[in-house]
Amino acid sequence: MVKKVLMICLGNICRSPIAEVVMVDTLEKAKVKDVEVDSAAIGGWHVGNRADPRAISTLQKHGLKCTHIVRQIKKQDFSEFDYIFGMDDDNMSELRRLAPKDSKAELLLLGDFGLEKKNRIIEDPYYERGAEGFETAYQQCVVSCAAFMKERLQK
Ligand code: 4NP
Repeated sequence: MVKKVLMICLGNICRSPIAEVVMVDTLEKAKVKDVEVDSAAIGGWHVGNRADPRAISTLQKHGLKCTHIVRQIKKQDFSEFDYIFGMDDDNMSELRRLAPKDSKAELLLLGDFGLEKKNRIIEDPYYERGAEGFETAYQQCVVSCAAFMKERLQK
């Protein structure tokens, strides 16, 4: 059966598109099939846009491509997806607030997989100057996506 994974962050232009691309790459490299991955925003400010150029160039540096167009999370996502990931504690409280009572999706903090406790928040790099925060987010996603895959998606 196909499993569906949704990566969430505040704007869907920095962290969650990176997480989406990294998760797809991690699954492809491990030849894990039957998993669909998407990403979306909590807020609607950037709907219809591409990811932040710094997210795109960080992924490019690692040989990966991001063609995602920003969309906002909707009620239906909670019944369609098996796993919905937030990047920080604010994302998690928003997800819990938005989730309908009969939500099927498991709401998880991405960094709870594979990262040390002090390092488990994937910080918002949007307001930082430069792309360093994007590289940090990328590296956190690489570790967490692999750990999640091993724990939940591989038999
Ligand atoms: P993201 O970063 O949640 O990692 O995509 C942000 C991008 C935009 C905004 C906030 C966070 N914003 O307020 O526009």
